[in-house]
Amino acid sequence: MKNIAIFASGNGTNAENIAKYFSKSESIKVSLILSNKAEAGVHERAARLGIPSFTFPRDSFIDGAPIVEILRQHQIDFIILAGFLCYVARPLLDAYPGKIINIHPSLLPKFGGKGMYGNKVHEAVLAAGEKESGITIHYINEHYDEGQIIFQATCPVLPDDTPDSLAARVHKLEYEYFPKIIEKVVGEAK
Ligand code: GAR
Repeated sequence: MKNIAIFASGNGTNAENIAKYFSKSESIKVSLILSNKAEAGVHERAARLGIPSFTFPRDSFIDGAPIVEILRQHQIDFIILAGFLCYVARPLLDAYPGKIINIHPSLLPKFGGKGMYGNKVHEAVLAAGEKESGITIHYINEHYDEGQIIFQATCPVLPDDTPDSLAARVHKLEYEYFPKIIEKVVGEAK
């Protein structure tokens, strides 16, 4: 059994979708949820799903040591960022080399980078008059949204789209593909 931890800063619909996908798996288990926000909706979802969840201040994710300690306690093999808005720095990258993946709600390298998250991404896509958007699943490195791309899927941007309607279309792609890609990547990892 490989244990995964999900890091999430907000609502946590992806975290819930991933946890449900693996709830009957014999090879992968969502064993821990970490956040930098005590008020994040993801904690309520975690409680409902019976998954331990904890909040750490932003600095802990940069320092790394307190996070690595709790990850070790829960025997975590792999980390999934699902709407996690804190920087993940060297100590954590070194503790989990090639074992941290993120989902971003656009077709990277477009509309990525610091400060680009959630509806800000969709607003920028609409403002640029893009005809297409989508999702990118990628390994992370020390630069925001620049790690090696694992998978992308696209959806149309419609003429009457609002950031919310586009977000809903992108979320559907996330729910469909993110668990399957996690299954493949974690399954293949040593
Ligand atoms: C998702 O759309 C995810 O792609 C995005 O935040 C949303 C979280 O939704 N991530 C980023 O923007 C990262 N830069 P959720 O909390 O409902 O899963």
